[in-house]
Amino acid sequence: MNKEKTLAAANAEWEQKCSCALRIQATRAVPGEGSADADIVFIGEAPGKNEDLQGKPFVGAAGKFLAEMLAAIDLKREDIYITNVVKYRPPENRDPSPEEIDACMPWLHTQIRIIRPKIIVTLGRHALGHFIPGKKISEAHGQAFRRTFDDIGEQIFFALYHPAAALYNGGMRATLINDFKKIPALLEKIKKD
Ligand code: URA
Repeated sequence: MNKEKTLAAANAEWEQKCSCALRIQATRAVPGEGSADADIVFIGEAPGKNEDLQGKPFVGAAGKFLAEMLAAIDLKREDIYITNVVKYRPPENRDPSPEEIDACMPWLHTQIRIIRPKIIVTLGRHALGHFIPGKKISEAHGQAFRRTFDDIGEQIFFALYHPAAALYNGGMRATLINDFKKIPALLEKIKKD
């Protein structure tokens, strides 16, 4: 099986068996979208209202902003893979609980194991908190970290503010745009190493 089919099959399987309590209230799962051959995987927090309705990640205002930043570095959504820590919308867009994050995490790790990206970009504190525990986003943003996990092996993570948090905050927005522009050089360096 090629990666695309393997990923589609894994997402279909997890959609059946994910034990996250959020699935009871959510309209549907939002597994993720993009290329199974992507060099870069972006990981947000959780689906919002639009994502819950459409079954696709980052399709609202934050998604538009993300698409603009991707375009600025010559990438399209189809070139990358976009997903979330939690695959179901939390009611009223509240933060996902540690239990909900734990329940969805094996699904995310499966996706990473199949795609084997060169960089994982964490969007916001929830994705950062899982992969780089103990690091504050205000200190970690714009930096790369190398970490090893039993099931996914060694991986490079790049921390960014969440586009939704930065959307209406001038300072954070400028910082995020600036950090985002570091991605191409980091990717080149990783490919050479
Ligand atoms: N915010 C997220 O973290 N994920 C989405 O899919 C949409 C908005």
